[in-house]
Amino acid sequence: MEKESSALVIQNICKTFGEVTAVKDFGLEVKDGEFVSLLGPSGCGKTTLLRIIAGFEIPDSGEVLLDGENIIGLQPFKRPMNMVFQRYALFPHMTVYENIAFSQFLKKRPKEEIEQKVKKMLELVQLEGFEPRKPNQLSGGQCQRIALARALINEPRVLLLDEPLGALDLKIRKQMQIELKKIQEKLKITFIYVTHDQEEALVMSDRIVLMKLGEIIQVDTPKRIYNHPNSRFAATFIGESNIFDGEVVKVKADHLVVGVDGLQLLAHRNIDAKVGDKIVLAIRLEKVSRVTGASKKEYDNQFPGKIEDVVFFGALVKYYVRISENITLIAEENITEEESDQDAEENNIGTTVTLGFSRKDVNVLIE
Ligand SMILES: Nc1ncnc2c1ncn2[C@@H]1O[C@H](COP(=O)(O)OP(=O)(O)OP(=O)(O)O)[C@@H](O)[C@H]1O
Ligand SMILES: [Mg+2]
Repeated sequence: MEKESSALVIQNICKTFGEVTAVKDFGLEVKDGEFVSLLGPSGCGKTTLLRIIAGFEIPDSGEVLLDGENIIGLQPFKRPMNMVFQRYALFPHMTVYENIAFSQFLKKRPKEEIEQKVKKMLELVQLEGFEPRKPNQLSGGQCQRIALARALINEPRVLLLDEPLGALDLKIRKQMQIELKKIQEKLKITFIYVTHDQEEALVMSDRIVLMKLGEIIQVDTPKRIYNHPNSRFAATFIGESNIFDGEVVKVKADHLVVGVDGLQLLAHRNIDAKVGDKIVLAIRLEKVSRVTGASKKEYDNQFPGKIEDVVFFGALVKYYVRISENITLIAEENITEEESDQDAEENNIGTTVTLGFSRKDVNVLIE
């Protein structure tokens, strides 16, 4: 099978629970060896979709094709897939060895083969020598590695992961994100990974499927989805953006002039728009800076205003600046060592600055 072929094709999936539409006309093609994340707020249908792919849930309509074959009628245990859950779901009375080997015992594989495989799996998740331990002698992160090993020993065609790092603390979670990604790259197994953590999706995925209320909002690489969100929802759910409602005032060859609360902003023309159209502008916080003498020429959008708040985030600082009656523009800058030592954040409040950004960094959205 070629690398670029689709391992999994999901077509027109719908699933309702009584009055609730959990998944609505969902379609997606996942390539062989791809790491795809389903990202969206709580209740948007991520787990339901994963359960449909795994066969634990039957959709009202639609198809799931694995290597070209419709598997909707296939029992979960007959699908060459495994699932890893948020809660570790290890068998508490069994050792690590028995947990990982469990599916191989059921398949009645020879003892030596099982030993070899378990050893290989423990190396993969970096827990060599942990065979005799019981789950209650493991940390949360270690439990999840064992859960991963237990799933991977089956060499699944597709691995489904439902917020597998959700119960871990931030530091371990970040470490596991990198590790999990490395394991996936090494084994080249197709991963479908559910998360509601946008940063996690950005760090790990080849592609992100952004969902809302059971529907796909945008499917793109992390970079594309971050730099070119297609909607107000995408611009705010992934990363942070200044969002303004505006009206097109002029249409120029390569840019638009947009009226926003009595101000005129320039935005590059990435959509067909005519004078009078209501549009939404999204500008990433880090694309907005305080204008200094040196950077004066860089920005075709410049607005003076009073600093309302300065918030210090360690390596970053955010400036909240009132640029019109109803609009606060937020700039995010890397903080220099001197600034950090000066305690600049408190002294700045109430003073006037000019914030600037380029029109190429203004994303024009329809909604
Ligand atoms: N068995 C069920 N019976 C009734 N409603 C259900 C059932 N399973 C899911 N739902 C509903 O379907 C919707 C989608 O649920 P789902 O668990 O797929 O969301 P999710 O995106 O995984 O959310 P979370 O991030 O909180 O895990 C929700 O409104 C949920 O209440
Ligand atoms: Mg869920």
